[in-house]
Amino acid sequence: MKVLVTGANGLLGQHLVMQLLEKGFTVIGTGKGDARLHPEGVGDRYTYRTLDVSDPSDVQEVMDAVKPEVVVHAAAMTQVDECELAPEQCEKINVTGTSLVLADAELYSSHFIYISTDFVFDGEQGNYKEDDDLKPISYYGFTKMQAEAMTETSSIRWAIVRTCLVYGDTLEGTRSNIISWVKDSLEQGKDIRVVSDQWRTPTFVEDLARGIVLIIEQKATGVYHISGKDLLTPYDIAIQTADLLQLDKSKITKVDASTFKQPGKRPPKTGFIIDKARKELGFEPVSFAEGLKKMLGI
Ligand SMILES: NC(=O)c1ccc[n+]([C@@H]2O[C@H](COP(=O)([O-])OP(=O)(O)OC[C@H]3O[C@@H](n4cnc5c(N)ncnc54)[C@H](OP(=O)(O)O)[C@@H]3O)[C@@H](O)[C@H]2O)c1
Repeated sequence: MKVLVTGANGLLGQHLVMQLLEKGFTVIGTGKGDARLHPEGVGDRYTYRTLDVSDPSDVQEVMDAVKPEVVVHAAAMTQVDECELAPEQCEKINVTGTSLVLADAELYSSHFIYISTDFVFDGEQGNYKEDDDLKPISYYGFTKMQAEAMTETSSIRWAIVRTCLVYGDTLEGTRSNIISWVKDSLEQGKDIRVVSDQWRTPTFVEDLARGIVLIIEQKATGVYHISGKDLLTPYDIAIQTADLLQLDKSKITKVDASTFKQPGKRPPKTGFIIDKARKELGFEPVSFAEGLKKMLGI
């Protein structure tokens, strides 16, 4: 089965490509820039193509050539503040880009899997279920909600995977995540200020990739919350990371989110109820402590 992955150079994309290859799928990784992942020993089961999802001719050319049975659309402008500061660019990539990829997926009756975010919620309630009301408070979240709505009205088989604060090995060129930032900062002896009034269910990237593989294997449709199972603040995450690595915790200062003047608003309390994915897909994530150990190779 041929699976096309957009955003294959990203944190999720790289891990997803590796798991799909391990499972025997033929994978076409696509990204905006040059390939950053070079799987070995898979022969012609892996190819990489440059693809700007906001360029109609690019999308059409690649989709026509590949005719994928499954499309995992993970490419996005993911930085919340950048989206707030450059809304047109954010709209072009996250909304127009999704509509272009989706339209061609419809042409080839692909199973379309859209990767979304906890930032579609306002964060007032926390512990969200799949059918809770969407109310984004950032432009990033707004564009992801619009892309979800397009996906839901599609005539082909579709699934939406919402995930939350993804962490894991940063393979070459991937952007930093909270754990690598805490580790690097403390190892360099830097003082860091970490928010203690936001809650998330941090997601180990290998679990997220496995959840998506389960959806592909089971041809599942609908909305799924795929995240970790522990509700934690970024401060909790930083302390657990420092403890595990025996780094100096006194360098970590607990602060409120209001300390930071960021262009994009963050929802205070998200986190997911993942019962649907557990029951229907057989998805079971590791605990945060286990994920942390796996990521750090301990
Ligand atoms: N990381 C999280 O904590 C988190 C949480 C919730 C939801 N999500 C969602 O999960 C998905 C994957 O996130 P991630 O963490 O893997 O993000 P990431 O590391 O920032 O990767 C996103 C990828 O999108 C690609 N991209 C950006 N603009 C593009 C364009 N115009 N055309 C084609 N590709 C483009 C980039 O490709 P190049 O590198 O080649 O430029 C990048 O590798 C995203 O949809 C995100 O919204 C992530």
